[in-house]
Order: sequence, then structure tokens, then C-alpha cells
Amino acid sequence: NLPNSVTVKEVGPRDGLQNEKQFIQTEDKIDWINMLSETGLSYIEITSFVNPKWIPQLADAVQVAKSIKRKKDITYAALVPNERGLQAALEVNIDEVAVFMSASETHNRKNINKSISETYIVLKPVIEQALSAGKSVRGYISTVFGCPYEGEISIDAVLSVSDQLFSLGIQELSLGDTIGVANPKQVEEVLTKVLDRFPREKIAMHFHNTRGTALANVLVSLNLGITKFDSSLGGLGGCPYAKGASGNLATDDLHYMLDQMGIHTGIDQEKLIQAAIFIEEKLGKPLPSHTMQTKRSL
Ligand code: HMG
Ligand code: MG
Repeated sequence: NLPNSVTVKEVGPRDGLQNEKQFIQTEDKIDWINMLSETGLSYIEITSFVNPKWIPQLADAVQVAKSIKRKKDITYAALVPNERGLQAALEVNIDEVAVFMSASETHNRKNINKSISETYIVLKPVIEQALSAGKSVRGYISTVFGCPYEGEISIDAVLSVSDQLFSLGIQELSLGDTIGVANPKQVEEVLTKVLDRFPREKIAMHFHNTRGTALANVLVSLNLGITKFDSSLGGLGGCPYAKGASGNLATDDLHYMLDQMGIHTGIDQEKLIQAAIFIEEKLGKPLPSHTMQTKRSL
């Protein structure tokens, strides 16, 4: 009972770049996003409207959002932590607002400087105003499968944050394995409980491949009917406020697997690789995805 098609949500320009120490020039980010727009992807998370002191790499969010060439059939999304960020996102007419918080009290505080309950108060007007401005709103939960500070996270903690975010009005929930510790059995357990509460169309999975389990976790999720996956081209990425949170699931590896399984994504692998080679050159270091490693060894 595998799905016929899957939506791949490219988070490379945001999750991929946010952890990179070396600043990527704004024009290079714009060129890269424009290349990604030509690959057949239907969703690209392009930047974050967060405090640039916290995430210096994305200090050029406004410029990037203003300058990219937008295609009509692509949703361009950005991370927004508060009303200040929303204001900026609305000024540049971002298509989708992504709010974010953690299932772990400690990670939430390290990442956004608030307790979980304070975060709901901050996000309530953000979600309301984004919706009334006609934007779609996605919510992320981090550390769903484990926290770098607290270790195990209970399914109840995840369900509680999910309930709150949906009741505040988010339309889609992305469950994040921030530090790449999830295993397929655990994903099945957590997702089964989540899907008892919420329709599968509203759930996306966001795996990091830190320990090589991301594609196995995708397969379990596919079998449970999930059709939305976040990934980052070349496996770039991580959360700067979660030590060891290297490498998102690579879009090129995800696409390879889905394509070989006959699951439609609309993506052109060759164009994906061209875009990966472009950012690899700008970063000046090899991208970690298996697809890119194989490419280099041929
Ligand atoms: P704070 O310091 O508590 O904020 O940070 P504040 O409201 O007290 O304001 C302090 C200063 O920040 C002020 O400036 C504000 O103007 C400024 P000052 O007076 O000191 O010059 N400020 C802002 N500037 C620009 N844009 C804004 C903004 N808001 C306040 N939106 C805050 C709170 C949330 C802003 C901060 O903690 C922050 O920016 N955090 C960002 C963390 C982040 O981006 N983390 C990575 C993304 S999450 C992730 O990667 C996980 C995910 O991929 C899923 C997964 O894998 O699990 C999504
Ligand atoms: Mg992430």
C-alpha cells in the first residue's frame, strides 16, 4: 500500500545552509534557489526570518526572498519565529509561513529562548495574522524522536505540542528528527499514534540522516501513508542549537529511491544534481549525500 506520488519539500536553502559557518553570497543563494525552481520541485523553503545574530547565514532573508524568480506552481516558504519575523515575511510576500518549536523544553529554550508554553503565546498571533493575510501555515516540531539535551522524548509530549499547534490553526505539521536518532520501529510507533489523531494528509516527516537511518524511516512512513517529506539537496544541513544535528536526508538520495520504486515526485534527477554541484562549488567542500559521493567516484 505504497503511495503513487510524494511531495518532496526542499529545505536546503534554509535547513541546509543555516548551519554553514562560511557565508554564502546572497547572489549565489538566489541563483541556487532559481536552479532548484527548475528541477520540478513544488515546494522550496528559501530562508528564515529569525534574528540574524542567532543565524548569521540567513541575515539576507529579505534580499533573497525579494530577488528569486518565482514560479507560479511552486510554494516558496520561510521559517518565522515571531510577529517581527512575520512582518518581514509578509512584506516580501512569502507563500507559506513555517512556525517552529520543540517537543523538548530544553531544546525549545536553546533554539528560540522560550519555554514551550511561552511559545504558544508568541505563535498564536503569528498563525492568526498569517492565515488572515491569505498565507498557508505549517508547523514544525523538533526533537520528536530524541533530544540532544533531554534524551528520550515521550510520545505524549509530541502529541501535546501537535494538538496545540493544530488548535492554533496550522494546516500541516512536520515532525522533525532534529539530531537523526530515529529508527524505523520508533517512527512506526510515533506515527501510528499521531495518525490516530490527525489525518495523514496533514503530516510531513523531516528526517536527518546523522546515523544513516533516514531512508529506512521514510520507507516506514510511506507504508503508513505519509506522502510529504522534507529533505535537503546533497544532505546539507543541521540545527545550530542541537549539537550533532548534521545532515538532513538528502533530496537526491530520497528522489533516487522514490523514483526507482515508481513513486512519482515530478523531479528531474539530472537537474537536481546540477543544482547540487553548483552549491557544492560555492561551499567549497563535498556534499555528503550518497548520490553525490557516487557521482564523484565515477
Ligand atoms: P530573543 O533574543 O528571545 O528575542 O530571540 P527578543 O524578542 O527578546 O529580541 C531580541 C533581539 O532580537 C531584538 O534585537 C529583536 O529586534 C531581535 P536587539 O534589540 O537586541 O537588537 N529579533 C529579531 N530580529 C530579526 N528577526 C526576527 C527577530 N525577532 C527578534 N524575527 C528568537 C528569540 C526566536 C528571535 C531567536 O531565538 C531566534 O532567532 N532563533 C532562531 C533559531 C533558529 O533559527 N534555529 C534553527 C531553525 S529550527 C530547526 O532547524 C529545526 C527544524 O529544521 C526541524 C528539525 O530538524 O527538527 C525546523
Ligand atoms: Mg531540520
